[in-house]
Amino acid sequence: MIFNKYNQHLQNNTLSTLFVGQNLIKLLKVDSTNNYLKNLLSNSEPLPEGTVIMADEQYAGRGQQENTWQATPGKNLTFSILLNPTFLPLNQQFMLNMAVSVALQNALQTFIIGVSIKWPNDIYYKKKKIGGVLIENTIIGTSFKNTVVGIGINVNEQFFSQDLKDKAISLHQILRQDVDITKLLLQICVSLEQAYLQLKAKNFTFLRNIYNANLYQLNIKASYRQNGEVFDGTILGVSTMGKLIVQKDHKPLEFNFKEIEFLNTI
Ligand code: BTN
Repeated sequence: MIFNKYNQHLQNNTLSTLFVGQNLIKLLKVDSTNNYLKNLLSNSEPLPEGTVIMADEQYAGRGQQENTWQATPGKNLTFSILLNPTFLPLNQQFMLNMAVSVALQNALQTFIIGVSIKWPNDIYYKKKKIGGVLIENTIIGTSFKNTVVGIGINVNEQFFSQDLKDKAISLHQILRQDVDITKLLLQICVSLEQAYLQLKAKNFTFLRNIYNANLYQLNIKASYRQNGEVFDGTILGVSTMGKLIVQKDHKPLEFNFKEIEFLNTI
């Protein structure tokens, strides 16, 4: 039943999860839902696992690598989920990225076809980004305490700024109609809970296989850059440690994040 194309769990916009999204806090305006959730946690607020903070508007939305996350108020999905993956060994932390990416790919493909995961955890439609993930972990000693999973999906955005318009796309632009933001949120909650329970059951190979099968540019020859040198290579998959495996000159090489840059498909 898991990861079937049309999820059977969503009926009349009611949520059939055990915990993800059961405590849903909707805000009109906030700096960043990740910040808001982290503040609640640092004030020792007892929050159930799976708590979701959703905002119509973020005025200081954050992306990966100190980037900002821009989204027109009321038109997109911007939210954060609290998870407590205390069961996950720290050296397996990339598995959490895999579970979240697989869940997003799965949820979005109930709306559109052509969604892939661009390593490490961008969500793409064809060659453009439709969603992004910012995971912030609190680690105590040698294990996870909690994790804030921030997710931004371009839903009903009609126009992107000049600098984004060649790189970003929204569901509205693909479907040429508005999508119900709450329906998408609920679908993501269902998919995320399924993937997270697989993670908890330590079904790492299962998750990694789905992640790899949905990788952007998998088995496609494309140009990449490493230390200023441009080369042609073919993505073969991602290792358990989260390294990108690229075939270059008939040899599989492993890259850490920031060691390799995607250029264009050939
Ligand atoms: C990226 O691709 O750079 C990650 C984008 C993550 C954006 C989401 S929107 C909800 C949550 N709150 C934030 O400030 N950022 C994340």
